[in-house]
Amino acid sequence: MADKPRVLMCPPDYFGVEYEINPWMSVARGVDHARAAAQWGALRDTLGELGAEVEQMAPVAGLPDLVFTANAGLVYRDVFIPSRFRFRARQGETAHFEAWARSRGFRVEPPPDGMSFEGAGDALFCGATLFAGYRFRSDVQSHQWVGERLGVEVLPMELVDPRYYHLDTCFCPIAPDAAIYYPGAFDEYGRAVIRARIPRLIEVRPEEAHGFSCNAVVVGRTVVLNRGAPRLAEDLRAMGFEARPLDFSEFIKSGGSAKCLTLRVDGEEAAAWRDPDSPP
Ligand code: ARG
Repeated sequence: MADKPRVLMCPPDYFGVEYEINPWMSVARGVDHARAAAQWGALRDTLGELGAEVEQMAPVAGLPDLVFTANAGLVYRDVFIPSRFRFRARQGETAHFEAWARSRGFRVEPPPDGMSFEGAGDALFCGATLFAGYRFRSDVQSHQWVGERLGVEVLPMELVDPRYYHLDTCFCPIAPDAAIYYPGAFDEYGRAVIRARIPRLIEVRPEEAHGFSCNAVVVGRTVVLNRGAPRLAEDLRAMGFEARPLDFSEFIKSGGSAKCLTLRVDGEEAAAWRDPDSPP
């Protein structure tokens, strides 16, 4: 039997909107902390019910976005490429994510100085290929470096709408040959790449994409996502997946939802390399 799926999360003890680095964030609006804690707990419990082992990292005062563990870095087999955050406000997180990866036995291989790279927020495997978003956070050069370092094919795609500033806000691989995506977040070229390279696709409607429904966590054939996307849930069902809606309203105030709150440590369901028979 396969090992349990492993997911890294960080409790929202110090979560808040304390600066503004994406269009969703407003310091003036603030966050309901009790509600955020309840929403985070519901995600952790749901992933547990789905059979995942949820590992918790220690929260750190003064790092309100440390909850978004998708941005810790990129996992590939026993290699961990830690993020290099574009904005100073998040740069203090890196040391904590690197320490976590070392403590778990990963080989930590940081990108060269001067490159921005925001980990699994911007780099997602679908099959053997790494789909990589750039412009608002990660640089296109960082993706090229990651591809060479890991020896995998990388397809960089420009993100064109600042509301979809990380690739995982508008694109979610659900199996090695299947993904959901919001076409409006990409240019013509990016859309063509996705259509040419992924055989089974679900297009998310603008109003549902705006509710962060592409920012989903996949465990087996269950897709955990923000509530309020009935059409996407139907499309997923038709493809043999089950949508599991939860409420992420407090985290959306920071520009994140289900997927951003998690890092899949043993490889995403859609990553071909997690299959033990795939070549190293
Ligand atoms: N406030 C955080 C930021 O702007 C949200 C990060 C969301 N993470 C993600 N993987 N999309 O960086």
